Amino acid sequence: MPVMAGLLAPRRTSNTLTTASTNGRAFIRMASTTSMILRGVRKLDESVPVEVIRGRRCLDAGCGMGRWTRVMQRLGAAEVVSVDVSKSALESTRRFNPNTQRCDVMKLPEVHPEWVGAFDFVNFWGVVMCTHDPLKAFLSAAATVRDGDYLFLMVYAEGGLHHQPLTNLQRKIFHSLSSVEERLRFVEHVFHRRWDWRYPLRVNLKNLYLNLRGFHKGTLVGVLDMLEPWYNWVIPWQIIEGWREKGGFREARLLNPKEERRCAYHVLFRK
Ligand SMILES: C[S@@+](CC[C@H](N)C(=O)[O-])C[C@H]1O[C@@H](n2cnc3c(N)ncnc32)[C@H](O)[C@@H]1O
Repeated sequence: MPVMAGLLAPRRTSNTLTTASTNGRAFIRMASTTSMILRGVRKLDESVPVEVIRGRRCLDAGCGMGRWTRVMQRLGAAEVVSVDVSKSALESTRRFNPNTQRCDVMKLPEVHPEWVGAFDFVNFWGVVMCTHDPLKAFLSAAATVRDGDYLFLMVYAEGGLHHQPLTNLQRKIFHSLSSVEERLRFVEHVFHRRWDWRYPLRVNLKNLYLNLRGFHKGTLVGVLDMLEPWYNWVIPWQIIEGWREKGGFREARLLNPKEERRCAYHVLFRK
């Protein structure tokens, strides 16, 4: 009986949660943008083992609407503490986890010294790249991991949308628009891959081709997520290796090594 049966987290363009069960063991798997847009869902090559979560004390740092909080709860975490700066994110997560706190992930050890070395599993998914100082954010979360335990990080990689000149052009256009309505209209424009004379001709031709062939468009919320954050860094692997050392981790295991045109690094760190 799959432990994860029936679990469905909110879907996003950039990554989608799927679950699988092998020999009674449940795993978390995620799919990444490039392949999802072109072919559907791509599972991680290696899973986050459920035993690093089940019965453990977990922190969801930058929980957003709480999808990973929900996953950790369903996997049997002993406790999940969910933190974010966004009030609406916390309101959403509070629907299923009362254990939420408004907190800046850049300052976890300063604001919560009792959390230093206190968590068995820290989920840090899609957050550091939205901050002004990704290393500071990483070290802050790293400080909360107990010796011998785990931190799961997802950051954008060089092979994905966030490293493309087109995305930067679209982000520039988005942020030049002054009203919410205009911005939302632009999100739809990007989502539908409409012709745009501000883009290079080859981009428009490619969009035309993708639309004619009926390629998957992702989701509107995914496009908004791509355009809206003020920061959306791409982090090279060498930098992540440096973070491992600075954060006091003995291991940084890449969970999607076989992905072609890798759009994100999914990394399980162990202290
Ligand atoms: C792209 S969302 C990812 C949310 C969630 N981890 C997920 O995968 O669904 C980034 C989240 O990080 C939060 N965030 C960004 N900077 C933060 C900070 N300095 N402190 C706490 N939360 C932050 C945002 O409010 C947002 O909810």
